[in-house]
Amino acid sequence: MENVKTDQKGQLITLEGPDGAGKTSILEKLASLLEAAGYEVVTTREPGGVTISESIRKIILDVENTSMDNKTELLLYIAARRQHWVERVLPALAAGKLVLVDRFIDSSVAYQGYGRGLSVNDITWLNAYAIDDTKPQLTLLFDVPSEVGLARIESADVREVNRLDLEKLDMHKRVRQGYLDLAKADPDRIKLVNANQDLETVVATAFDLVQANLAK
Ligand code: TYD
Repeated sequence: MENVKTDQKGQLITLEGPDGAGKTSILEKLASLLEAAGYEVVTTREPGGVTISESIRKIILDVENTSMDNKTELLLYIAARRQHWVERVLPALAAGKLVLVDRFIDSSVAYQGYGRGLSVNDITWLNAYAIDDTKPQLTLLFDVPSEVGLARIESADVREVNRLDLEKLDMHKRVRQGYLDLAKADPDRIKLVNANQDLETVVATAFDLVQANLAK
């Protein structure tokens, strides 16, 4: 697999991490810093970012859809990815932008692969199919211990832990492990950032990594 083709002037940087890593706030602040440093930044997210993919997102995340099969879930994420890729990411790259995406191919491996137990080989192939055998130039993986991530999400929650919460912890741990394995397998692309620190420190670390990557 190759990096995004050289005829694309722009750069694709993805932000990944388990729930509760603070990715979305980090993305906002990181984008402002990069803009202030003179980069033309486009921020977007998966699943979603364009009309068709936002419609798919609603189907995937709808709590009424309790009967959704795991493979259906995977294929919907992949379909949303493809449409977002064609309609949003590729044009921005062609226009020379710095594209920051909140979640991308590694989310499918971590969540549907490690989390749901689907074949990582199949997911890798489907990801490649959706984004034309390319890869992001850089992926920032915001890592937090599972207990910290879940506590951040449920910070307003003071009730006792129930069976579903335990399942959530188990799923969260598998997702985190998936990300750590991915980072180990592709250390040139995936850079681990300790997100169990204050937001300013995390954002400053991310900014340095992006600048170092752009200077390459
Ligand atoms: P979202 O509310 O955007 O969560 P977050 O702020 O944590 O990114 O919901 C996206 C959810 O979809 C999130 O729980 C991760 C999951 N997801 C997958 O399971 N597979 C994927 O391929 C992608 C892109 C996201």
